[in-house]
Amino acid sequence: MQFLVVGASGATGRHLVQHLLDGGHRVKAVVRSRATLNTAWKDHEHVELIEASLLDMPDAELAEALRDCDGAASCLGHNISFKGIWGAPRRLVTDAACKLCSAMRTTDAGRKKRFVLMNTVGVADPALGEQRAFGERLLIGLLRLVLPPQVDNEQAVAYLKNGIGLQHPHVEWVAVRPDSLTQDTETSPYDVLPAQTKTLFKPGQTSRINVGHFMAALLTDDARFAQWKGQLPVIYNRETAA
Ligand SMILES: NC(=O)c1ccc[n+]([C@@H]2O[C@H](COP(=O)([O-])OP(=O)(O)OC[C@H]3O[C@@H](n4cnc5c(N)ncnc54)[C@H](OP(=O)(O)O)[C@@H]3O)[C@@H](O)[C@H]2O)c1
Repeated sequence: MQFLVVGASGATGRHLVQHLLDGGHRVKAVVRSRATLNTAWKDHEHVELIEASLLDMPDAELAEALRDCDGAASCLGHNISFKGIWGAPRRLVTDAACKLCSAMRTTDAGRKKRFVLMNTVGVADPALGEQRAFGERLLIGLLRLVLPPQVDNEQAVAYLKNGIGLQHPHVEWVAVRPDSLTQDTETSPYDVLPAQTKTLFKPGQTSRINVGHFMAALLTDDARFAQWKGQLPVIYNRETAA
């Protein structure tokens, strides 16, 4: 199978690409700079590097990039810098999701494709019983005011739920929600749950390599995808008894 990965240069995106390659799949990786890319798979024979900033890609170019792909994944995130968080593009995650889903309508004669989005437990869904306590609601309200990426992640999920929905003829999706991200070099046991079991004040941990592993599984494993299609699964590293 072949997949388009955006945010492939990021700390999670690079793991996702590696997991896909390890599974014998081909990857088209969109990166802003080939020169500064320092990943093990940079010159892999099954990787096609597309040097572009996704939001600036003409629609026809993106449709061409998606051609012959079975799906796409986004590990985009606002860079942790003043410009990355408060500068443009403020709707990076949302606009990237819209652009990819829109291109899927026209590519390969509209053959249905999978879209897997990396999101965050910062986005809660009351429909899943994820009611926040008063203190958490206050914190989220504050984050919405001062951190544009919070609003961006919420809007991206709203777009998938309401703009794409569950019966779209060309796109089927999953939005993966990790908790506090950690950097590990090996995958470890992890749990995937339909709703959050931690709070913002007592968060869980999720290693980026596990997120990449789960996203690769969603893209490539029909049963795994069918299990989570149209949902917002939460992923936590498995806690071991002390
Ligand atoms: N931090 C946490 O604890 C946490 C927890 C849960 C979820 N999340 C979510 O996880 C995601 C980020 O994960 P990560 O740590 O793997 O991210 P990361 O290492 O910062 O990677 C971000 C990726 O986005 C790309 N990017 C940034 N700005 C861009 C722009 N304007 N145009 C095109 N590409 C752009 C970067 O490209 P370059 O390499 O070219 O800069 C990079 O590939 C975010 O959606 C975040 O909300 C974070």
